[in-house]
Amino acid sequence: MKKIVTIERFILDSQPEHAIGDFTNLLYDIALAAKVISAKTLRAGLVDILGRAGSTNIQGEEQQILDIFADQVISKLCDHTGRLCVMASEEHDDIIPIPPSYKKGRYVLVFDPLDGSSNIDVNVSTGTIFGIYRCLEWENRGRLEDCLQPANKLIGAGYVLYSTSTMLVYSTGSGVHAFTLDPDLGEFLLSHENIRIPEPPSYSSANFSYFEKWSAGVRAFADWLQTGDEKDLVPSERYIGSLVADFHRNLLMGGIFFYPGQKGMPNGKLRLLYEAGPLAFVAQQAGGYASDGQHPIVEMKPLTLHQRVPLFIGNRSLVRKAEAFIQELDGNN
Ligand code: F6P
Repeated sequence: MKKIVTIERFILDSQPEHAIGDFTNLLYDIALAAKVISAKTLRAGLVDILGRAGSTNIQGEEQQILDIFADQVISKLCDHTGRLCVMASEEHDDIIPIPPSYKKGRYVLVFDPLDGSSNIDVNVSTGTIFGIYRCLEWENRGRLEDCLQPANKLIGAGYVLYSTSTMLVYSTGSGVHAFTLDPDLGEFLLSHENIRIPEPPSYSSANFSYFEKWSAGVRAFADWLQTGDEKDLVPSERYIGSLVADFHRNLLMGGIFFYPGQKGMPNGKLRLLYEAGPLAFVAQQAGGYASDGQHPIVEMKPLTLHQRVPLFIGNRSLVRKAEAFIQELDGNN
């Protein structure tokens, strides 16, 4: 039997000596929220909460009850701890301020509470994505500006995958580590330490039904993926349509996920702050790379909370190849 390491133990052991524990405790809070959301998603097919909540979020997408539940679990677990000065969630139009009755801390939490939630009705994996920043100025902490930081300023980021197992995968800037929830113990146990995206990549993941709407460069890249330079090394296509699940598979097996801009949606669908940024940070920590087709995602400062961005993420070799096709055929800007 391997050594059993709980997430609490691992986080505590990774805490620098001088730390006061706020960041460590914030990671615990996220792990606890993940357990609560996991318990609820597991029962989604059993209890009478399936179906639409009847409201739409700022992107005009239908919210489902579990999205709202997940959003509230995270915000309510984190708003009163004195560790955060502000939050931003994909489900809220504006920033989520810390209620005036609570102390404001120095950290900023951005999150997509339940990504891929349209998959819930058909029992397909979903995920939570999160990123943690430091506030920009202590005296003025808790402003919109604190949330609008590029991913290279993240001090921690990760995701929770609700699937056959629930896994929490995160990085605080020294490697990527994954923890699998033991449902009997209610504990996340270290299952994958220091993940590196393997070479050669096994998979490519994109919604090929948009092929005709992609730019010439993206179409050429997609064609190249089918033929490759050497026929034997062509990655297989796998697309779940649930970003966390697609990303997670490619992180462990090697591959590229891409959701480019398309006719009528020049920036694609995914959000820079809640989706592309935190996953770009994780990919980079695992030796991978993320780009909008021209620029590294981690260098892009969001101008608005819900800004969308084209995303190419996974093995550096494949993302660079996509950039090369785009530069050659679509030009650069
Ligand atoms: O952002 C929501 C989301 O469900 C992602 O998880 C997923 O990658 C994407 O949308 C799927 O979009 P589409 O149905 O257009 O392929």
